[in-house]
Amino acid sequence: MRTPRYKGVVDGLAAQLRAGRWPVGTRLPTHRELAAREGIALVTATRVYAELEAMGLVTGEPGRGTFVRDTALLAGQGIDEQAVAADAVDLQFNYPAIPGQADLLRNALRELAAGELESLLHYQPHAGRIEARTAVAKHLERRGLTVDAANVLIVSGAQHGLAATAMATLQRGDVVAVDPLTYTGFKVLAHTLGLELVATTNLDKLCRRRPVRAVYTMPTLHNPLGTVMSLTARKRLVATARRHGLLIIEDGAYAYLVEDAPPPLAALAPERTVYVSSLSKSVATGLRVGYVVAPEPKPIERVIRATTWNTPALNVALIRRWLEDGTVDRLEAHKRTDAHMRQAIARDVFAGLPFVSHPASYFLWLPLPGRADHVAAALARHRISVATAEQFATTPVVPQALRLALGSVPVPDLRRTLDTVREIVES
Ligand SMILES: Cc1ncc(COP(=O)(O)O)c(C=O)c1O
Repeated sequence: MRTPRYKGVVDGLAAQLRAGRWPVGTRLPTHRELAAREGIALVTATRVYAELEAMGLVTGEPGRGTFVRDTALLAGQGIDEQAVAADAVDLQFNYPAIPGQADLLRNALRELAAGELESLLHYQPHAGRIEARTAVAKHLERRGLTVDAANVLIVSGAQHGLAATAMATLQRGDVVAVDPLTYTGFKVLAHTLGLELVATTNLDKLCRRRPVRAVYTMPTLHNPLGTVMSLTARKRLVATARRHGLLIIEDGAYAYLVEDAPPPLAALAPERTVYVSSLSKSVATGLRVGYVVAPEPKPIERVIRATTWNTPALNVALIRRWLEDGTVDRLEAHKRTDAHMRQAIARDVFAGLPFVSHPASYFLWLPLPGRADHVAAALARHRISVATAEQFATTPVVPQALRLALGSVPVPDLRRTLDTVREIVES
């Protein structure tokens, strides 16, 4: 079979990029120049660059050009997610939203505007106003976590909460135990702070071999696998952490999706667990409001002061209002139903394939028999953006798998999009 002309151009350029022919950051020829040089149509040149971008070899910056990307990171240590092309269906990132949320925001802004606004113009306490911290503490009771508002800190999203926690409690070179697949944002953070992430499925054994300082874990709805840790496994983890003096960093970003989960680690071992979560996935990613519950809040408060001073007052005021008037509870319930419905569609489409997921999860993990990057590139040609295992892997050998985020695609398009994924995976 004849290879299409553009495939040859892609393969040729990919080989040169992988061989380091151009320094990182080099601006590549414009689409027009590439078309003229290779004797291909302009749209084909655009397609060539789209494919190289999907392979993670170049980045396109609108209005500026196409640049060589840094691919020198070890396999499994990749830190950058690929940007989702504007016209692509997004199965890469989750920003679950339900119809009507914009109206909710509009109404809340109107109501806020009718009240006192002066106080929102000033610096806020670093950890947030006590009213907001109290509202979060109350909210957490429903997750089986009883905490004092004094131990709650308001942060600019869970990612900021994780960063503030790590900066306050860990040092460059510290060993942090993680799952063999873990949340990409924590990998990025560890890379930035010079922490050593060590993948383990046997924490106690690792602690006997290495001076582990902390363990980062997502016991309720693991990203990307969707697993929920049993009570027995939670108790075992706590016992190990106590035996070896570990700090537990518990990430509850998706915990709201599972109603009957065992108690958080922070409830089982409050003296050594920092619980980090946010309202990104339950309310909206763009508002950037999260929280940290810590046995010793002061060092984390100092990092908030050093990084953002305070989480934007207007956003916190909105979230506080929605926590207090039950809107957050209603949105959480609605999104649980939405996630179940999307997951059911995905499970139906991928029936018979060896996927891993949870009935309440906004993700589906799909192991592949062949190269995940090839499948991702093929999907990119169909304008479908997915994440490969590389972004989540903390092991030197990266499994071949895709993580499909089900929360962002409009529901009417979900089945058709997933059907296309299945077809491409099977071809
Ligand atoms: C497991 C996990 N933790 C933390 C975050 C960061 O959330 P936020 O948007 O609140 O910073 C995410 C976002 O995807 C996540 O999946």
